[in-house]
Amino acid sequence: MSNVAVIGSQWGDEGKGKIVDWLSSRADVVVRFQGGHNAGHTLVIDGVEYKLNLLPSGIVRQGKLSIIGNGVVVNPWCLLKEIETLKEKGVRIKPENLMLAENANLILPVHQALDQAMEITRGQNKIGTTNRGIGPCYEDKVARRGIRVCDLYHPELLKEKLTKMMFHHNILLKGMGVDPVDVEATYDKLMEISADILSYTGVVWKVLDEARSENKKILFEGAQGTMLDIDHGTYPYVTSSNTVSSQAAAGSGVGPDAVKFVLGITKAYTTRVGTGPFPTEQDNEVGQRLGERGKEFGTNTGRKRRCGWFDAVMVRQAAKINGMSGIALTKLDVLDGLDEIKICVGYKLGDKEINHCPSSQIEQAEVEPIYETVEGWSESTYGARSWAELPAQAVKYVRRIEELINTPVTLLSTSPERDDTILMHDPFVD
Ligand code: GDP
Ligand code: IMO
Ligand code: MG
Repeated sequence: MSNVAVIGSQWGDEGKGKIVDWLSSRADVVVRFQGGHNAGHTLVIDGVEYKLNLLPSGIVRQGKLSIIGNGVVVNPWCLLKEIETLKEKGVRIKPENLMLAENANLILPVHQALDQAMEITRGQNKIGTTNRGIGPCYEDKVARRGIRVCDLYHPELLKEKLTKMMFHHNILLKGMGVDPVDVEATYDKLMEISADILSYTGVVWKVLDEARSENKKILFEGAQGTMLDIDHGTYPYVTSSNTVSSQAAAGSGVGPDAVKFVLGITKAYTTRVGTGPFPTEQDNEVGQRLGERGKEFGTNTGRKRRCGWFDAVMVRQAAKINGMSGIALTKLDVLDGLDEIKICVGYKLGDKEINHCPSSQIEQAEVEPIYETVEGWSESTYGARSWAELPAQAVKYVRRIEELINTPVTLLSTSPERDDTILMHDPFVD
């Protein structure tokens, strides 16, 4: 049985939500394994838009089990709010179809206060985080001070842990000129929602083990993208988790052999939100056009996304690091009507040519793209549902990308709508 991991190949917002929703018709279980509500995944089903932050994108389908794994950092108030918002849209969410790992870490008000204060302290060098408290929560997890979902079962221990955690952070907040966060207030707020949260809680690794032994199909849903990975991304302008496919195992509690197909969700051009290097960025009318046609505004923070040409160097690197079996190429339609399209095929670093993204932040900022120019197409690909509907130049563009990244296109997406998707190879079938 072929379980699938979906991950982002670039800097996030590649269209993972749409593809996970589409693929989830073929899966039994959908699992988020990292990140938190910094993610913003948009699905459009028969014209109705659903925006998901923490909930797996399989939640809108009946009869699927959605799981939030241990690798996710969970703001419990935001989770409950998201559940309510979706329920109002008619989505059925009950402990029978949603499970939260009892060993996931909780994002608390202090984490958001720290995120904000640290960004201010960084000044010019700010990361441009989503200000959701993601980084500080992961810091606490690694520092072994974190509060986990299972701590809600034991209020006395919870209070003791909160007191120690706040003692540490309030010194820091004070030093940054920010008001301290009150232990009692956080404790009371947590106790108000504790029963609700615990009603969804379970032993995820066991449930996944059972699912595997029953030959059920599991879809692992990544958030962010490879270039935002804490190890492999454009550090320090990254998020605080591993976003790569191997995290699917650690972040949910299965062995690495559980993932049989790695699908890299890949935009037909490139976008980035926040600060950091972006070699193919087009801070000009080309970028403006891509942004307008692609509606490139953050789902989460409403920030304008930076736009640029497709970077084959980065996606090829992402393909290797993730062990990608195939890609889902999204937003091809956004390139409709361009006379010519550029693809970055290599980098210049000083007087050298290189074919990878260097690790040093100085070198990352210095690399210059080497472009190849291909002919565009005037016809519309928007909403195309078969390969035969694509103009010859669009097919050529797709084939060239496959060649440059040495990875086949498994799925092609031509609009935000669920069914405007062309399947070349079913990733669930070996
Ligand atoms: P994610 O974070 O990777 O799930 O991506 P987002 O949902 O943040 O951003 C992708 C945006 O593009 C969403 O608004 C989608 O509805 C939209 N989208 C996805 N696929 C396509 C496509 O093939 N064409 C167009 N025009 N829009 C798409
Ligand atoms: P999805 O899942 C795009 C970016 C932020 C910032 C950096 C660190 O929708 O693709 P953080 O709040 O995580 O500490 O911010 O990472 N970032 C994203 N960019 N899509 C996302 O998620 C992102 N999640 C975080 O803009 O640059
Ligand atoms: Mg997004």
